[in-house]
Amino acid sequence: MEEKIQTKKRRAAITSVAHWVPDEVLDNNYFASYLDTSDEWIVTRTGIKERRILRNGATSDLGYNAAKLALERRGMSPNDIQLIICCTVTPDMPFPPTACIIQDKLGAKKCWGFDINAACSGFLFGLETARNFIESGNYDRVLLIGADKMSSISNYQDRNTCILFGDAGGAVVVEATEDGTGILDSYLRVDGTGKEFLYMKGGGSLNPATEETVRKGWHYIYQDGKTVFKRAVVDMAESSALMMERNGLSSEDIAYLVPHQANLRILEAARERMGLEKDKVMVNIDRYGNTTAATIPMCMSEWWAAGKVKKGDNLVLSSFGAGYTWGAILLRWAY
Ligand code: UT7
Repeated sequence: MEEKIQTKKRRAAITSVAHWVPDEVLDNNYFASYLDTSDEWIVTRTGIKERRILRNGATSDLGYNAAKLALERRGMSPNDIQLIICCTVTPDMPFPPTACIIQDKLGAKKCWGFDINAACSGFLFGLETARNFIESGNYDRVLLIGADKMSSISNYQDRNTCILFGDAGGAVVVEATEDGTGILDSYLRVDGTGKEFLYMKGGGSLNPATEETVRKGWHYIYQDGKTVFKRAVVDMAESSALMMERNGLSSEDIAYLVPHQANLRILEAARERMGLEKDKVMVNIDRYGNTTAATIPMCMSEWWAAGKVKKGDNLVLSSFGAGYTWGAILLRWAY
């Protein structure tokens, strides 16, 4: 495989990663204290033990804190950044873009930016977007953020959904590399028939917020968990395996699978399909739940900070989410 990867080709690589979570922890017993649920049910069905909640503040705070640390770790000033991409389904407001709010908080004076809404696949879709800006040769330094304050759209009386989600921000710096590291391949898809099964019905142009939409709870997440589960289990596993198969990689060549953290059973299915050992999957769903666009950068940040990711490691990032949106990215770690 080593010989097949062209060096000298300009690629997009992650050159810094960071995450940020609020201090407040909600464990499973909190939900069991007022809902018909239990720690045992939540752990067995999802793998989640606790999640973080941001009481005061917004998605831009989650994203800003992660972005600030990512820049510090790279030794960059906010003014070095040319483009900010913020992936989120919980923008501070429908507009302006949360990317602009984060730009202002950072004091980054020499960039433009925009938001991407691709739900749980936000970070992957954002990374592919950043990759193309870098590979075009027109951009050298992109700040990519995945952040969601899921508590702001969770109905804490609905046991089907409220136990699943948490709040977090992740950020990476994406730069050019020519040493054979960086993003090597990607496979991304959408299928809008999935819109029936995971959505927030109110507050958009179809159902603008009214007293009635609020009374009906349309400002909260709705999910038909079983239907989404059946698709996620197949599409995440298949797209992850595709990254190996069409690049001639075996399980020994993969250092880590970095899956979106929605359900431990979905991650396990992807791991098994790829033939990977358990210690080759980044899993932190037990501590944070599903933080939507933040899960993948958070995993990479934790594993990198623990010294477990090193230059040259092959990582497969994969996700499945509302839309439906899904896919996988193969990258070779650059630092
Ligand atoms: O991140 C974006 C993509 N999203 C996903 O990938 C999520 C995919 N789906 C899932 O992870 C799972 O479907 C869930 C974790 C959401 C649910 O697990 P499940 O094994 O599919 O359970 P279910 O929805 O089929 O519900 C089974 C039973 C139901 O009761 P009945 O109808 O059998 O009497 C639910 O009402 O479990 C009940 N239930 C609960 N019981 C205790 C649902 N939520 C809870 C709960 N505590 N929190």
